Amino acid sequence: MYQDIRERLETLNKIGIALSSETILSRLLELIVREARYFTNADAGSLYLVDLDKNCLDFEVAQNDTLKKRYDLKPETFKPYSLTLTKNSIAGYVAITGETLNIPDAYNLPPEVGFEFNRDFDKRNRYRTKSMLLVAMKDTDGKIIGVLQLINSTNSQGKVVSFDINIESLVSSLASQAAVAIKNAQLIEEIKAIFEALIQYSVSAIDARSPFTAGHSMGVAKYTMALASALNDTHDGPYADISFSPAQLEELNYAAWLHDIGKIGVRECVLDKRTRLSDAEMEALTNRFENIKASAITETQKKKFELFHNNRENAAEIKKLDRELKNRIKQIEEDLASIKKINTGNLLNDSGHKKLEEIHQKKYLDFEGQKRNYLTDFEFENLSVRKGNLTKEEIEEIRSHVIHTENIVNKVPFTKHLKRVPFFAAGHHEMLDGSGYPKHVKAEAIPLQTRIMTVADIYEALIAKDRPYKKSIDQKKSLTILREEAKNGRLDKELVRVFIEKRVYESK
Ligand SMILES: [Fe+2]
Ligand SMILES: [Fe+2]
Repeated sequence: MYQDIRERLETLNKIGIALSSETILSRLLELIVREARYFTNADAGSLYLVDLDKNCLDFEVAQNDTLKKRYDLKPETFKPYSLTLTKNSIAGYVAITGETLNIPDAYNLPPEVGFEFNRDFDKRNRYRTKSMLLVAMKDTDGKIIGVLQLINSTNSQGKVVSFDINIESLVSSLASQAAVAIKNAQLIEEIKAIFEALIQYSVSAIDARSPFTAGHSMGVAKYTMALASALNDTHDGPYADISFSPAQLEELNYAAWLHDIGKIGVRECVLDKRTRLSDAEMEALTNRFENIKASAITETQKKKFELFHNNRENAAEIKKLDRELKNRIKQIEEDLASIKKINTGNLLNDSGHKKLEEIHQKKYLDFEGQKRNYLTDFEFENLSVRKGNLTKEEIEEIRSHVIHTENIVNKVPFTKHLKRVPFFAAGHHEMLDGSGYPKHVKAEAIPLQTRIMTVADIYEALIAKDRPYKKSIDQKKSLTILREEAKNGRLDKELVRVFIEKRVYESK
C-alpha cells in the first residue's frame, strides 16, 4: 500500500511538471484528461470549464478509449458544447458545490441526490457509463474553474469497477495542479491575444494611410501562413523534411504581420503618389501657364503700342504680330497638354524627355518683369522620371521602410522563441540573386521564413486592387510573374511551385 501511494505521488509529481510546461490551452486540457485517466485507469474522461459570464459549463475535452477503438475516429458527439450551470447535472453539481463525487453506477443514482445522469450520449454512441469520479478544479484562491470527469475505472481484467476511494484525494491534487496550469495558460493566451490585437490594429492603421496598401499586411500574413503550412504538408522536393513547429509558425506570423510596419516612417504623399506632380502642384503649374499666355499677350500689345507711337503701324505689321501671338498661345497650350500627359503617364521615352527639357528651358516675363523658366527645377525633376512616378529620392524613402521595420521590431522585447521576428521581417525585399534591398544579400543569407514572406508579399502586391505604380493584375498574370521571378533566380523556385500547385494563392 505504502509502495503504491509513493508510486502514485511520484507519478502525480511528474504529471505536475508536465502540466506546468504546456502553455497552449487546448493541448493542456487534453493532457490533463489523458494523465488523469492514466492515473485512475479510466476508460473515458471529460473536462468542463466554468464560464461564469454566461453561467455555463463549456465541454472542452472528451476522450474515450472504447469508442476510439470502435470508431477509429472521434464520434460526432465529441464536438465542444456548453451546458447551463445548474445543480441538475452531475458536472454542474460539482462545479457549484466543489464536492467530489464518486459514483459506483451512473444509472442507479439515489433519488435524494437531486442531480441526474443524462444518458443521451450513451444512447447515441451505444456506450454504458457506469462508475464515475468527478472532482472540481480549484485555483489557488479556491475558485472553481472547471470539472474533471473520469468514467469507468477498469481493473486489470478490463472489467469496469468503482473508483478507488483512496485515490480521490490524489485526483483532487491533480485537479488543483491542473487548475493552476489552466489559469497560467489562459493568462498567456489573454496576453497573446492583446499583443496580437495591438499589432494587427496598429499595422492595419499604418496600411490604411494609403488606400493602395490597405489590408496589405493582413493579406501577406495569410498567404505566408498558408504557404508555411503547405510546406509542412509537402513530403517531396528540397523542403520535404521541413516541418515548422507551432512556435516557429507563431514567430513567422508575427514577422509577416510586422514586415511593413516601417512604412510609418515614409511620408504619406510619397506612399500615396499617383502622378508625377500632385494635384496642387499641377494647379500651380497650370496657373503659371495662364500667366505665360497673359505675358505673351502683353508683350504683343506693347509691340503694337510701339508701332503706334512711332507712326509705323500698318495692317500687315499688325496682322503679323497677331499671327505670331496666335502661334505662341497655341504652342503654350500644346506644351501644357504635353506636361499633363507626361504627369499621368507611366513611361517617359527619349523624345518625351527631350520635349520636357525644351519646355523647361523656355522663358517668359513674369508680372515683375523677371525672366523665368516655364518649369521649376522641382517640377522638371519630378516630371522627368523615366518609369513610374517616383523620383530617386522618393524610391529611397519608400525602400527605407525595411530599415525602419527592423529598428521598430527590434525594440519589441520578444520572448526567446520569437527572437528572430525582426530578422525575418527586415529581409522581405531581399532577392536570392542579390538584386533586392537594403543589404543586397544572396540566397544563403536569406532564411526560408523570409523567402516565404517575400513570395507572399509580391503576390499580395500584384493582385492588390491598384497601386500608385501599377494597375491591378489578375491572378493568372500574377502567378506567371511569380514563375518568371523564380526562373530568373530572384524568388525561391520550390516555394513558388508549392504556392501554385497547392493553390496557396486562394487562401486569402
Ligand atoms: Fe515591404
Ligand atoms: Fe509588404
